[in-house]
Amino acid sequence: MMKRRIVFFTLIVVLLPSIIMAKGDPDRGKEIYDKRCWWCHGEEGAGDGPAAEFLNPPPRDFTAGMYKFKTTPFDEYTPTDQDLFNMIKGEFTKNSITGWTGMNDSSMPGWGDMLSEQDIWDLVAYIKTLGELEPPEKGSISYDSQIPPSEESIAKGREIFKEMCAECHGEEGRGDGTKKLKDDWGYRTWPRNLTKGWSFRISNDPKDIYTRITVGIPGTQMPSFADPASKKKLSDEERWHVANYVASLDEPYKKPTDNTVIKAVRIEEEVPEKPDDPVWDKAEYTSFYFVPQIIAKERHFTPSLNSISVKAVYNDKDIAILLEWDDRTYSLPGDKKAIEIADGEVFEDGVAIQLPIHIPDGSEKPYFGMGDASKPVNIWFWKSPSSKDAPQTIKLINAKGFEKQEERDPSEAGLKAVGTYNKGTWRVVMKRALKAGDPEKDIQFVSGKFIPIAFAAWDGSNQEKGSKHVMTTWYWLFLKPEPGIGVYAWPIVIALLVFGGELMWLRSARKK
Ligand code: HEC
Ligand code: HEC
Repeated sequence: MMKRRIVFFTLIVVLLPSIIMAKGDPDRGKEIYDKRCWWCHGEEGAGDGPAAEFLNPPPRDFTAGMYKFKTTPFDEYTPTDQDLFNMIKGEFTKNSITGWTGMNDSSMPGWGDMLSEQDIWDLVAYIKTLGELEPPEKGSISYDSQIPPSEESIAKGREIFKEMCAECHGEEGRGDGTKKLKDDWGYRTWPRNLTKGWSFRISNDPKDIYTRITVGIPGTQMPSFADPASKKKLSDEERWHVANYVASLDEPYKKPTDNTVIKAVRIEEEVPEKPDDPVWDKAEYTSFYFVPQIIAKERHFTPSLNSISVKAVYNDKDIAILLEWDDRTYSLPGDKKAIEIADGEVFEDGVAIQLPIHIPDGSEKPYFGMGDASKPVNIWFWKSPSSKDAPQTIKLINAKGFEKQEERDPSEAGLKAVGTYNKGTWRVVMKRALKAGDPEKDIQFVSGKFIPIAFAAWDGSNQEKGSKHVMTTWYWLFLKPEPGIGVYAWPIVIALLVFGGELMWLRSARKK
């Protein structure tokens, strides 16, 4: 009897905090919401806060009670409380560069570093009142059947992917499918680029991918493959295989890191003019985030390109820079297919490199928006063909700010460029002599110095043209000097000093 009572009280003491915690207080939640969330999600939670019109994807409308990233089965409308909690806390999607948490590649921040767990439960309770959510009946899907990744599983997954996913996500998974997709709210959506694991809203862990395939992403065209009524149905086993395959598509070099320096490698052979030259294997990619251009008119808030990867090589005469970025669409003006998939008029795709004309001695860089009066810049601007029979073009622009641009003949500096598009990826090589043109008008490359460099790109199928584009801030280009005698000599000198010292010590030790 006594024993039972002890068990009972112990249970109460252990469970009470979690009973209270799980409940959350919607009134407190509202207070926090009115401070932290309304400017994106709207005062009434309808996804229409003052910042909303500038965000892509747009903030969730909580009044519909529909959530995209839930773990309950496809035929269960309501997410679990834990799903909402995880989404708001956001710690499982930590961005390695900014240190921010939140939903990757979207403006939804994580709040785990700012709000307490109780605050977040209170928010969960409040958000649920906005959409009048019924409690979920089924809970999260199970992962008991997980098939660990193996070559065999990945190979099976590849076949399933071709048949079930490629039409939207593209043959190689770069999101360059052939379908124009809208979500239930009428916004344009793009299938995720599955080779950029870092851009998954949740993560590219096989478990999370399996969840998305099994549950679908409600409100979007991403279907559930567990729905028996669907034409596209996969067995549980098949879903694990394709999840393992998708996880294997990740190309980690595309992930921007905190490395801000592109190391140009010195080579003996000719500098390559084309992107597919095997010489490029000698250099490594450095990747950077793109941000939309919002300083000058016309401002841009709905970018489609999110990063660029860059390599550089040089010899005693020339330098070549390889620019690689994923673009879901090959934007050929006038082309029927391009028009079908584009949003509005189709312009050319493009990419540009910005360099200071005079390499600064210190860390002082020109104004990154096309330089300024005292620190002018060179812009090398490549564009894809403007029609089926037109050539690609390269422009050379000298600028002292947005308003002061002078277009020059690229042959004055011997500037050349060649680009190729393949299954969702552009690769463009720009090549020039190290010393070229007029030193007052053209950058003269030198090794051993940190040269500021910045990039911009245009997706012509996303109505990007002129000042409407994405860009990076300044980074550095460094031409690694040839390892001369200076570099090699040092270890020998050091070895001699150490060895010599040791001999002295041995000698003096022997004497004793
Ligand atoms: C800077 C804008 C911004 C702020 C501030 C913001 N959010 Fe979001 N939130 C978003 C966007 C954008 C999405 C949609 C992302 C997507 O669709 O991929 C989103 C999505 C969500 C989701 C939906 C997840 C799902 O599975 O559908 C929840 C829940 C959420 N936000 C809660 C909050 C809470 C709570 C706060 C305040 C503590 C908050 N957000 C503050 C922009 C914001
Ligand atoms: C009809 C088009 C369509 C098909 C078919 C499709 N997807 Fe998707 N998928 C999408 C869209 C659209 C999104 C982005 C939804 C959003 O967040 O707005 C998406 C998103 C995803 C994500 C992102 C998850 C995250 O955390 O960000 C994964 C993973 C994914 N799909 C895998 C697959 C796999 C695997 C298949 C095949 C078994 C598949 N998809 C089939 C349209 C599709």
